[in-house]
Amino acid sequence: MRVIETVASFREWRNDLKQEQQSLGFVPTMGALHSGHLSLFKQAKQECDQVAISIFVNPTQFNDPKDLEKYPRPLERDLEMAKQIGVDAVFLPQAQEIYADKYRYQVLERDLSKILCGATRPGHFEGVLTVVMKLLNITSPERAYFGEKDYQQFLLIRDMTKAFFMPTQVVSLPTIRESDGLAMSSRNVRLTPSERQLAPMIYRELKSSKPLSDVRSALESAGFRIDYLEEHFGRHFIAAFLGEVRLIDNV
Ligand code: PAJ
Repeated sequence: MRVIETVASFREWRNDLKQEQQSLGFVPTMGALHSGHLSLFKQAKQECDQVAISIFVNPTQFNDPKDLEKYPRPLERDLEMAKQIGVDAVFLPQAQEIYADKYRYQVLERDLSKILCGATRPGHFEGVLTVVMKLLNITSPERAYFGEKDYQQFLLIRDMTKAFFMPTQVVSLPTIRESDGLAMSSRNVRLTPSERQLAPMIYRELKSSKPLSDVRSALESAGFRIDYLEEHFGRHFIAAFLGEVRLIDNV
């Protein structure tokens, strides 16, 4: 497995693949890998000749500096997991190179990015869309893979590639859960043992057929602080805090 740290060396590798007519599947991540990420890598492996992932904790999508600071970064473990699955290349760019323009240029979406996670995390989706556009332009994959755990993010990225006539096909895959139903997330490790025990209630309540107002009261009585709980596109979306940790899910 190659570990590639600069844009120029990634492009060199990518050009070699193009000459050999090998297709590339790409999975952008922020690391702290878990089975949710691995399911994307596996699907990419099945559908493409070569698989590249990126690990980049993108500073521009964090509206809360404390969340950025506390984001887990277990790099050695991540590299080992990627290698075990059979990832061909890991791209580990530096913020200085990704944001050589000092973030003067940004991708702005004016509609879907303003609701749900966009309503309470100002600037979040500008950061996500901008970094994903940069990563897709650098890696130039035939296919890129995203999880439905972040369904709003997936829709925004899919529609961005259409809006800007980007050649990459955007693929989504179902949410991978712990055996108790909690959606896997890099932030789950920050839950205290008692919060971790309570956390699966989000999924249990969300998939119950109760009205959302009843779901809200049940979760609030149990100690969750609800950021949003809404229905869009026939799906139920939630973001809720347990202590300091913000969890999201959709069903
Ligand atoms: P990250 O949270 O690391 O997630 C990387 C990819 O893994 C995303 O497409 C996300 O939806 C997917 N994923 C996370 N948890 C999952 C789960 N439990 N089941 C299935 N897929 C899951 O999302 C980001 O990073 C960033 O915003 C990024 C797109 C890399 C841009 O910085």
